[in-house]
Amino acid sequence: MKAVVLAAGKGTRFKSDKPKVLHEILGKPMLWYVLNTVRQGGIEDIAVVVGHGAEEVKKTFGDEFAYFVQENPKGGTADAVLASVDFWRNAEDYLLIINGDSPLVTSDTIKNMQRFLTLVEEYEKVELAGVVLTSVLQDPTGYGRIVKEEGTDRILRIVEEKDATPQERNIREVNGGVYIFYIPYLLEALFKIKPSEATGELYLTDVVDYMVSKGYEIRSFMASDPTEVLGVNTRWELSFAENILRLKLIKYWAQRGVTFHIPETVWIEPDVSLSKNVEVYPNVFLKGRTRLSEGVVVKTGAVVRDSELSENVVVEPYSVIEKSKVERGAKVGPYAHIRERTRVGEKSEVGNFVEVKRSTFGKRVKAKHLAYIGDAEVGDGTNVGAGVVTANYDGRKKHRTEIGKNVFVGSNSLLVAPIKLGDFAYVAGGSVVTKDVPEEALAVERAELRILKGRGKKLLKP
Ligand code: UD1
Ligand code: CA
Repeated sequence: MKAVVLAAGKGTRFKSDKPKVLHEILGKPMLWYVLNTVRQGGIEDIAVVVGHGAEEVKKTFGDEFAYFVQENPKGGTADAVLASVDFWRNAEDYLLIINGDSPLVTSDTIKNMQRFLTLVEEYEKVELAGVVLTSVLQDPTGYGRIVKEEGTDRILRIVEEKDATPQERNIREVNGGVYIFYIPYLLEALFKIKPSEATGELYLTDVVDYMVSKGYEIRSFMASDPTEVLGVNTRWELSFAENILRLKLIKYWAQRGVTFHIPETVWIEPDVSLSKNVEVYPNVFLKGRTRLSEGVVVKTGAVVRDSELSENVVVEPYSVIEKSKVERGAKVGPYAHIRERTRVGEKSEVGNFVEVKRSTFGKRVKAKHLAYIGDAEVGDGTNVGAGVVTANYDGRKKHRTEIGKNVFVGSNSLLVAPIKLGDFAYVAGGSVVTKDVPEEALAVERAELRILKGRGKKLLKP
């Protein structure tokens, strides 16, 4: 089976220059969810109908999909399907059509709709012309209403709200915007339907009426969870969809042995992967391709993006870790900033207000307070004192700092790169180090401290 995804609309109600389907939910464009659902629903051959911002959409999703441009993206959903007719017309098969603004539909639903067709065929010996995903909503406002033959699952018509009579508006079963149609009938119907009198658009939903008039049968398939059919037409609905997906992801990981404290405040993106016994505190953000191994604890307000945290790493509150790797048993924060391409070795500690960038720390390295370490290599067992700074930038270029094993870098020293400190080197506090320090040497750079008796009193007392 092939699939067509409708994504040409402007999304007028979004009040945005960006195509609606590129607006993000948990860091991924809305359309990503729909494409993913279709693929995981077992359909590989997918066409996307684009219109508004066509180039941007194509660029975002690349050549894994076929694209068809709807010349008039206000032509309506049937016009959009027709724009892709060359993609599907020759198959004597079913075609799945799904709205690009339905990010909550699950792949299970896509699979079950296909199974439903087969089951009806096998057990009832009825070849359906189509199946439509529906749901019963408390408030059906804005959705197409499903008019059925009483007491059956046969759909007679789908009436858009703008064209509905007051009686039809009272129907609470709505069209979820996911359809499977038998191609030969769909083709026939699409060429027969007329534009809506209310809007001038060609409605895909009108093919149902036509098919039924020809004696073909279309059935409803009820979504197992009513939130699945949510169409995202406004920014508020986008927020709402994001919340639902977020809580679903949290529940998924909780079922796999992750503890979340105050889960309604935790942000977690779909490519994040967690192991059992991970513990996540309030207001934590887990983003991108982050992976947390067993026993990792991420405390309040921490942000971890595209990073790998090995077993039992603890991230203390309000730390930020980006594009880095933290090895087992290491401790980060509170208020630490680990920037891109950093590796923090086993059992190392990166503490309060320490910023690390493009650096590698060996095992048991300590940099616990107020330091900046950039473009550096730091050997096992080295201690980086409070306020140590690697001066890695000379105004033109970045230079590297190499610090050996078991080095002691005293507080407030400045390491002017490029520079090397050998194993067991000792830098006295407050030194500005501009030359390499050999193994086991002591480096002291310090003006003489003068003690002038009685001068303090003179300065302080009037
Ligand atoms: C549509 C359905 C409605 C259903 C609802 C479910 C029709 C006529 N109505 O209404 O029955 O309850 O979805 O969410 O289909 N699009 C195009 N080209 C167009 C118009 C739309 O590609 O000319 C795309 C949009 O980008 C969007 C999708 O089709 O992704 C649905 O269009 P939208 O205008 O949002 O339809 P609804 O009014 O929500
Ligand atoms: Ca919609």
